[in-house]
Amino acid sequence: MAGVTDASFREMLAKYGKPDVIWTEMVSLAGIRVRGEENFENEMKFSFKENPVVVQFFGSIPDDFLMCGEIARRRGFSGIDINMGCPDDGVEKQGAGACLMKSPSLAVEILSAAIEGSQGLPVSIKTRLGYSATSEMEKWLTIIAGEKPAAITIHGRTRSEKRKGDADWAAIAKAGEVIKGLDKDIIVLGNGDISMKEKGEQQAREAEIDGYMVGRALVGNPWFFIGKEALKDERIRAAAEHALLFEKFFGESESFDLMKNHFAGYFSGFPEAKELRVRFMGIKNAADAVAIAEGEGITI
Ligand SMILES: Cc1cc2nc3c(=O)[nH]c(=O)nc-3n(C[C@H](O)[C@H](O)[C@H](O)COP(=O)(O)O)c2cc1C
Repeated sequence: MAGVTDASFREMLAKYGKPDVIWTEMVSLAGIRVRGEENFENEMKFSFKENPVVVQFFGSIPDDFLMCGEIARRRGFSGIDINMGCPDDGVEKQGAGACLMKSPSLAVEILSAAIEGSQGLPVSIKTRLGYSATSEMEKWLTIIAGEKPAAITIHGRTRSEKRKGDADWAAIAKAGEVIKGLDKDIIVLGNGDISMKEKGEQQAREAEIDGYMVGRALVGNPWFFIGKEALKDERIRAAAEHALLFEKFFGESESFDLMKNHFAGYFSGFPEAKELRVRFMGIKNAADAVAIAEGEGITI
């Protein structure tokens, strides 16, 4: 997730509750081509503690995808994911993300270029139930599954729905049936509205797919995958550790305000959450976070 699953948060997950696999924030291939890979160091930074990490790219030019494998392999990633589901204007204006569902032949060219250049790394797709309606799903999935990606993750909403309404897990189950009917070796993951580990496992089991991907419920919650409800002091400690990691990875090159998404997650849902949230929202750097923790008697 852009602005959320950066190297600092992924290292927190590695420490407190590691998932089977984790994806980077999406990285622009047009950006790499035009501005140079060195301008995307922050998005592609990771430590081996987080392994396996899949790097997610977005773009609309098949030739750009030929370079994914070399970049991913050189940097030590375990796989390559292609975003075919992002509804953001900036991404769609480039012909990338969700609007590839409207250009299936281009999507196929992109996927086949990524596989050709993959240097043996698995290539996966993240997509949705359709662009305007779920009725588009079967045709769309049949086309992309035909290229034999290693995995397809389906967010249970259409592009038109963006993040509105509930994720449609019945449609995700149908998507799984379509994909497995074509090729049972393609890993199918469902995504949307999973708030707890047990719920994710249950939804995946009921949909008869291989697993689930979780997004928003991870924000400020590195304990998600061990199903732990962390206590107040554990949350303060984690928020301060996370802030230190953020500075270690990014220094001044990313705004510390990005940490605020996570602070909102760390400090919600328990009696003193609001007061702590307000205090953490007002800080400027990791030293301030450590000072709050120490003021609470927690040594970092
Ligand atoms: C802040 C934010 C950033 C996101 N960035 C990405 C992204 O970079 N790539 C991607 O495939 N999906 C991205 N998503 C979508 C999520 O991966 C996921 O599909 C969506 O939030 C639904 O799952 P959830 O209910 O578990 O959050 C993002 C979502 C949010 C809220």
